[in-house]
Amino acid sequence: MKKFEDQYPFLLACRRQPTPYTPIWLMRQAGRYMKEYRALRKKFSFLEMCKNPELAAEVTLLPIEKFKMDAAIIFSDILLPLEPMGVGLEFKKGEGPLVSPVREVKEIDQLRIIDPERDLSFLMKAIRMVRGELEGKFPLIGFSGAPFTLASYVIEGGHSPNYVLTKSLMYQNRPAWTALMEKISEVLIRYLNAQVRAGVQALQLFDSWAGCLSPNDYQEYVFPYSKKVIDGVDKTVPLIHFSTSSSTLLEKIKKAGGEVIGVDWRVDLDEAWARVGYDVAIQGNLDPVLLLGPIRLIEEEVKRILNQAGGRPGHIFNLGHGILPNTPVENVVALIDRVHEYSSKIRQD
Ligand code: CP3
Repeated sequence: MKKFEDQYPFLLACRRQPTPYTPIWLMRQAGRYMKEYRALRKKFSFLEMCKNPELAAEVTLLPIEKFKMDAAIIFSDILLPLEPMGVGLEFKKGEGPLVSPVREVKEIDQLRIIDPERDLSFLMKAIRMVRGELEGKFPLIGFSGAPFTLASYVIEGGHSPNYVLTKSLMYQNRPAWTALMEKISEVLIRYLNAQVRAGVQALQLFDSWAGCLSPNDYQEYVFPYSKKVIDGVDKTVPLIHFSTSSSTLLEKIKKAGGEVIGVDWRVDLDEAWARVGYDVAIQGNLDPVLLLGPIRLIEEEVKRILNQAGGRPGHIFNLGHGILPNTPVENVVALIDRVHEYSSKIRQD
């Protein structure tokens, strides 16, 4: 049966409309836990896969073909807009991303405001290809990093355990901080809107590392830019505002914007939803480590989370962060089945 866009459970849930079951997708659902992905990675580097539209489209569709996910997310990375801005980027085996750091106002001024259709044409092409494949079957999510999370990579030169360099720049060099956050925000608005024009039907903003900030610093140094980006994005598609370790920031994150608030496992879903308010949808929040097993515990946790959502329209099931590379595929199958099964039962009771 053909599903029309306004009938996709995922998109309905983003708008807090009733659905026959709770929709589910998983962050990093196209990744190393899948043998099909690992086979492709033997032949191509991660960046090669992102920059080749045919490959990126193929990888995006892998989990959709294999599992009963309710949405696809385009295969890319939050760091890709950095290269055309003039920031060096590479992925070293076993080390994660390496970024050539930018910390001085002079260097920041030289960063380019990108034209996503030209500079990231491979991504726009991949989006159009995937939409062609998924038409009438599944919705497609686009994404970007949020200004703070992206700025932390630019300043630190990669992933950081403590964000000392990022926070030092924030406290000690306000002009550089402002210039960098302004520039990144401008790029993100263009980048997200270009993805919408290419065809994505929802967006996720990843502020993965915002949780390292005090509530006051989030408000002072980060909130205005996240809000500016969300306000600047096409409102015809819903936006999921995601972060981790951020239970002390949830009210502010909600205020910055988004139709859906993404939460991790460090906060109970019912408490998080009550705090952000029922005028937004909620996404989460199974601990990715639990997905390693055993299945009995996964089932218990699915029930607990679904009970916390209480059958209220507007819950999208997901992990609290990306799926781990050593996750057994059979556990993913079990998770998706149980979420669909239990949530349709809750609706009938
Ligand atoms: O969710 C999806 O399936 C879509 C694809 C996606 C990737 N990265 C692919 C990827 C998405 C949405 C991201 C977002 C992303 N990238 C974030 C925000 C989400 C989060 O995890 O907090 C961040 C911080 C990054 C930056 C990044 N990319 C890191 C830190 C790493 C290395 C860590 C790791 O998991 O290896 C990457 C690499 C990366 N991005 C991989 C994938 C599938 C692994 C690359 C490989 O095959 O080796």
